[in-house]
Amino acid sequence: MFNINNPKTIDLLLSRRSEKSRRMEGPGPSADELKSILKCGMRVSDHGKIAPWRFEVFEGSAQQNLANVMAAGMLDAGEEENSPKHKAMQEFAMQAPVVIAVLSKPDTEHKVPLWEQELSVGAACQNILVATHALGFVGQWLTGDGAYNQSVRNYFKLSEADKIAGFLFIGSSTGELKERPRPNFDDVVTYWPK
Ligand SMILES: Cc1cc2nc3c(=O)[nH]c(=O)nc-3n(C[C@H](O)[C@H](O)[C@H](O)COP(=O)(O)O)c2cc1C
Repeated sequence: MFNINNPKTIDLLLSRRSEKSRRMEGPGPSADELKSILKCGMRVSDHGKIAPWRFEVFEGSAQQNLANVMAAGMLDAGEEENSPKHKAMQEFAMQAPVVIAVLSKPDTEHKVPLWEQELSVGAACQNILVATHALGFVGQWLTGDGAYNQSVRNYFKLSEADKIAGFLFIGSSTGELKERPRPNFDDVVTYWPK
C-alpha cells in the first residue's frame, strides 16, 4: 500500500525540472516504465470524466516518420528547404529515446467548458513529467512550430477544436541538470485577507 504521508513525494515534486531534449540520450524508459508514466498521465483531474487527452507515443522508426512529417510541414508552411527552421524540424522529434505527442481532444458538445477540458490536458502533461522524474529519467515539454503546423495537425487527424498540447521528450540526461531561477514565493502567493 502506498504511504500517502511520504515526505519523499514532496522532495520529488520540489526537485522536478526539465532537461533540454537535445541533451537527452538513451536509455529511455522500458515498456513497463513507459506504461506507468502514461497511466500517471491519465490520473488527473478531469471535470465530467471526459478524458479529453490522447497520448501518441513515438519511438524508433515511428519517431523518424514523425520527424519527416514535421519537416515537410515546415516546407508546406513556406519555409525554404534546408533553412534553419526546416533543418531544426527534421531533427526535433529525434532528440530523445521517446516522444509523446499529447493531444487535446475536447468534447465540444459537453457542458464542461472547453477551458476546463484543456486544463486537464495540461495536468496530464505535468503528471507525465513528474512520473518521468520519479523513475529517474529526464523530461521536457516542448511545443515549437510543430505543435501549430497544419500538416502536423492533419497527421494527427485533429478537428478544429483539437490541439497539440505539446511534445513530451523522455530520456536519460547526458550530464548535470542545470537549475533555473524559480519565482519568489511571495510574488505568486497571497494569503487573504491581504
Ligand atoms: C505548454 C508548454 C510549451 C513549452 N514549449 C517550449 C518550447 O517550445 N521551447 C522551449 O524552450 N521551452 C518550452 N517550454 C518550457 C519547458 O518545457 C520548460 O518548462 C522550461 O524550460 C523550464 O524548465 P522547468 O520545467 O525545469 O521549469 C514549454 C512549456 C510549456 C508548459
